[in-house]
Amino acid sequence: MNIDGKSFRTILPADDGASVEVIDQTRLPFAFELKRLASLDDAAVAIRTMIVRGAPLIGVTAAYGLALGLREEASDEAIERAVEMLAATRPTAINLRWALDRVAAKLREVEFSERATFAFAEAGRIAEEDVESCHAIGRHGAAILADLHQAKGRRIDVLTHCNAGWLATVDWGTALAPIYVAHETGIPVHVYVDETRPRNQGAALTAFELNAHGVPHTVIADNAGGHLMQHGKVDVCIVGSDRTTASGDVCNKIGTYLKALAASDNRVPFYAALPFSTIDWTLDDGVAQIPIEERDGREVSHLTGRLADGGLATIEVVSPGSPVANPAFDVTPARLVTGIITERGVASADAEGLLSLYPERRAAA
Ligand code: MRU
Repeated sequence: MNIDGKSFRTILPADDGASVEVIDQTRLPFAFELKRLASLDDAAVAIRTMIVRGAPLIGVTAAYGLALGLREEASDEAIERAVEMLAATRPTAINLRWALDRVAAKLREVEFSERATFAFAEAGRIAEEDVESCHAIGRHGAAILADLHQAKGRRIDVLTHCNAGWLATVDWGTALAPIYVAHETGIPVHVYVDETRPRNQGAALTAFELNAHGVPHTVIADNAGGHLMQHGKVDVCIVGSDRTTASGDVCNKIGTYLKALAASDNRVPFYAALPFSTIDWTLDDGVAQIPIEERDGREVSHLTGRLADGGLATIEVVSPGSPVANPAFDVTPARLVTGIITERGVASADAEGLLSLYPERRAAA
């Protein structure tokens, strides 16, 4: 999508053909910097430290990381080691494991000497497919926004949580893709952006990208969404997902579940937007089965921001000595989800709905 009218992607092969460049998301929104990843370790560090984040983007970065690792050693054992190392960087988003398994499975058919080049090209194909999937999610989701606009005859207010925009994918995003498509086709949309404590992906990243692309939006404190819904200020909620079960339970950034509860209580439609690579067909009980990443408590006890003089500073906000906990994701049960917007269309959040869009999974189900 655009920054000041110039089109960007979050990850691109570098000119040297032997590395990739990513947008360093730890520097946003106050600085826009590219970072070069030239090795397996670079990719693992980038994912672990959230230089890149968002389920589809970490999948693509991991695929490139595997390719970069194969330049050093391309044996079957080296592939396995690299896959395990990259998969362990972030445990919740299934896209990471999906991308690694896809590249690793194909590599077994490829000569050792060709493996690094093949893996690099395969990572590129995953990236291109991600762009196509997200654009298609955008078209299907925009139809929902167009229907709401037609029914209400005024601007449509969307609430979103975390960042499931183009910064979380290669381009377009998942939850924000319908908003970009609607915006580009002239449907008036305005987005309520949850700040998304503790890391503030909403305030820092979603606000940055909507602002840069010219989409009207307002950042709200995480606790404000329920109040806005009670007062009829939200027409629809759209969120992304890091892992969605075959039964339609949606795992996403911590706090998503509370928004779904508030949406249900106020009869506000609540959609999750996600590509096929986010569906974990092996699971049917998200609350019991999805591993939830527990992150460093410093993300809760400290905040980083810009000072009046332009410098960045990290400050402590929790009473010193108090224990903190930092679960990074939660699960919204399928019963609270109005529909799942995918690249193939909109499904009801249940096994039958998802299988009707992915009939090739019926045999395995
Ligand atoms: O911890 P993050 O920033 O990687 O979490 C991102 C999210 O929760 C997104 O909503 C999700 O990955 C969907 S991205 C299209």
